[in-house]
Amino acid sequence: MPLLAGLFSGFGFILPLSATESPREHLLLDANWKFHLGDDWPKALRLDKAGANAGPASEKTFSDATWRTVNLPHDWAIELPFDKNADMNHGYRAVGPGFESNSIGWYRRAFELPKSDEGKRIWLTFDGVYRDATVFVNGWNVRRHEGGYYPFREDITDVVKYGERNVIAVKVDATKFEGWFYEGAGIYRHVWLEKTAPVAIAPDGIFVYSQFKNNVPAGAAAIHVEADVLNTLTNAVKAVVNCEIISPDGKSVAQFNGSQKVGGELQATLKLESKVSSPVLWSPESPKLYKLVTTVLVDGKTFDQKETIFGIRTAVFDPDKGFLLNGRHYEIYGTCNHQDAAGVGAAIPDALQDYRIKQLKKFGCNGIRTSHNPPTPELLDAADRLGMLIMDENRLLGSDSENMRKWDVMIRRDRNHPSIIIWSVSNEEFAVEWNDQGRNTARSMQNYVHHLDPTRPVTYPAPQGDTVGGINSVIEVRGWNYHPGPDMDTYHAKHPKQANVGTEQASATSTRGIYESSPERGHVAAYDAPPHQWVTSSETWWSWFADRPWLSGGFVWTGFDYRGEPTPYGWPCINSHFGILDMCGFPKDNFYYYQAWWTTNTVLHLLPHWTWPGREGHEFRVDALSNCKQVELFLNGESLGKKPMKPNSKLTWHVKYEPGTLSAKGFDAAGKVIAETQVETTGEATKIQLTPDRKTINANGEDVAVFSVTAFDAQGRFVPVAQNKINFAIEGNGKIIGVGNGDPSCHEPDTYVSNLSVRNVALNEWRWKIMPSAGRNNPLTEYATGFDDSSWNVVKAGNGEGTIKTDNTAAIYRAHLTLTDQDLSGPGVQIHFTGCDDEGWYFVNGQYVGETHDWDAKPDFDITKFLHAGDNVIAVCCRNGGAFGGLNPNVTADIIDKPTALPWSRSLFNGLAQVIVQSTKDAGEIKLTATAAGLAPATTTVNTQPCTLRPFVP
Ligand code: GAL
Repeated sequence: MPLLAGLFSGFGFILPLSATESPREHLLLDANWKFHLGDDWPKALRLDKAGANAGPASEKTFSDATWRTVNLPHDWAIELPFDKNADMNHGYRAVGPGFESNSIGWYRRAFELPKSDEGKRIWLTFDGVYRDATVFVNGWNVRRHEGGYYPFREDITDVVKYGERNVIAVKVDATKFEGWFYEGAGIYRHVWLEKTAPVAIAPDGIFVYSQFKNNVPAGAAAIHVEADVLNTLTNAVKAVVNCEIISPDGKSVAQFNGSQKVGGELQATLKLESKVSSPVLWSPESPKLYKLVTTVLVDGKTFDQKETIFGIRTAVFDPDKGFLLNGRHYEIYGTCNHQDAAGVGAAIPDALQDYRIKQLKKFGCNGIRTSHNPPTPELLDAADRLGMLIMDENRLLGSDSENMRKWDVMIRRDRNHPSIIIWSVSNEEFAVEWNDQGRNTARSMQNYVHHLDPTRPVTYPAPQGDTVGGINSVIEVRGWNYHPGPDMDTYHAKHPKQANVGTEQASATSTRGIYESSPERGHVAAYDAPPHQWVTSSETWWSWFADRPWLSGGFVWTGFDYRGEPTPYGWPCINSHFGILDMCGFPKDNFYYYQAWWTTNTVLHLLPHWTWPGREGHEFRVDALSNCKQVELFLNGESLGKKPMKPNSKLTWHVKYEPGTLSAKGFDAAGKVIAETQVETTGEATKIQLTPDRKTINANGEDVAVFSVTAFDAQGRFVPVAQNKINFAIEGNGKIIGVGNGDPSCHEPDTYVSNLSVRNVALNEWRWKIMPSAGRNNPLTEYATGFDDSSWNVVKAGNGEGTIKTDNTAAIYRAHLTLTDQDLSGPGVQIHFTGCDDEGWYFVNGQYVGETHDWDAKPDFDITKFLHAGDNVIAVCCRNGGAFGGLNPNVTADIIDKPTALPWSRSLFNGLAQVIVQSTKDAGEIKLTATAAGLAPATTTVNTQPCTLRPFVP
């Protein structure tokens, strides 16, 4: 469709908002997909004829009954085993180059559209597929999309059927990598089906932003709205766009409107302005959100209505003052993070985004860099809602049309989020960052942002010191990956007009609860890594930045551990351990370093733990992480000395181990004790405790409770060295979706999947008879169960020499399938034909099942609903068009067995493990039980409360 953008600024009369319901439907399409690992349908990518893709793309002849049912988001890479020969940086999962058979997956989902949808536009949106997706709708190849981190959307109106079943099939090819870290595999973000009127707000067609004079919030905020209206009718329309702004406390604070003629099959942009007096400003500490309600009317009738969440705030990077939020210096206490979590991999449920942000906020983190790709939109929603600044990063530097398309998609999708304060063109482009081509490309990308978003600057995370050429010479905000030190001061002196930010810092490695490094086990002592290559300790980078507000603060590599990049050791280590939190979000010791200097809490934390049986007399390094002015350390009540704390540092003692209690007191400037802490020598673990992050979750089939599994000794003390294997059982209205323990070298499964167990039965007794006029429309007694076919011939020939030797002649073939009640107690039975030359009509117990019109078709049918225990008759009418033809008698039936309960378990790692439990749509209770040999078990319940489900495709 040719699209032309028109412009109009409207300040006309105010039309009352229409009370009519918006025809727009935004439906979640996550539940009940069918999934198959492997590419068994190479013919599916036929390019010769439209709408004629074979294999799983064609709904008529394909049954996915033996495929597993999965709910999205789904990442099949975490289901695969670890393999020492697999890519280290991707976490040694048996996927990607060298593991081709594990790297292509197929998904299918059927859905109905009512007749009443005729006339609407139907859109299919994928928020992210890793990677290289080929999408079919009803056998039409509607989209090929490669980039694993970008959403894509297709208007499928032309190929859908109303009042009938539609089938989406998606081939996902994760054979290639895009990054150098774990990336997952599959449809790992949400899928949506959207229905709109023929005149509607275009996809991502609302942009709302606020501005203040000189970027300092004082008085009223000017509000700018850009609304793209898409007219898919052939005639022009006059579209009226009404806007209403709802304040954080639910009051209507502005109404304004405009109108615009939109030509037939064209898109037009309306630019509208208004203001909000005395706005409530958004910040991480007070994340107040406004809502823009945009209504599109044509001839007085509501054609569309959409709500857009936004915030009012200013965000500026200043060369001298650093980052300014709402006009004031605001230090960025940020972390870089990949989309990867324990138990679920890249397929993070929305509720886990909240959990992760809350864990980050606990140590004062107020910013996330979405390294190294655009995030899932729900991370941004959570950041808006919970208060977290975002550096939104693009995957690859490139100003070619495809890279610019992706850059455009990312910015249009994300630019309403108040949490986003800066765009990043990409990360560490070693090959080109220093040269003219790198510079030109970054400049083109940056210039493009000025058209799409006048409110935010652009940065480039440069792994360079005082380097001026290339990208650094043009980028608005100089991004510093590493290099804390004099280079920064020199660079700043030379470029006083360029703002700066610490885009990536530290890369300090540590393993939770480990105090002696072990290359064999792949564990790193948690004392905050000493300088090594590009790595600096937390203290080194932070104390440098803390003294220089003009640097704007920075983002630590990383907030959470993630799969892959198992630095500094490789196998058996399969995870990074750069995190301040481990894969599960459990704090490591560095958590307390940052909490001490990034929050106003009084912090006093000691490391290591004090349970070292057999190590009596060994001298351990003891650190106090604290913001107290002085800290005094005691061993079994005896003082080991009081030390003054320098800002942004830590204190260290060396202490000979003896069992008992290591304790500390923290003092304020006046010498008053303001904090106390202790670590004790504990006994063996005797009992388990299960603690959910929330006691009540929503019964919507999406929400999750994150259970911590903890080991305690007989005196109720946390056992920091417990490694017991824990088994989990669940009852009630929930299911376990993943487990973890934060051990970067643990090879236990993150998730247990019930691959269907299928028994294959050959149907090798076929009888047949020529019946020239047989077909679908004259169902005959010969198709039925009771018919006596004993006088018919037994099929002799298979493929090659057909049984029907006359042109334009049909024959009926019959076979019997005897089934027991047990056979029918599982998910179903699928039948697999290997050829019916040239056309076939298929019946089970006299009932029509399907048909084929291609001599080469090998259809699978789900015949479950036609079957009963005892004798069943499969009948096929086959019509030979020319030459020899007939049914290939090599027919098999797959009987799918009832799934057995999954053996969920996970070992504790240094006293802790995690279980992620997801609700069903039934309100009630989830009961999780943990058992382990020699330990008292634990059972804990979580309530699942009734809630309004977000609209979904049934
Ligand atoms: C950085 C890079 C990150 C990660 C990190 C490990 O240079 O940007 O993606 O690889 O090193 O230290």
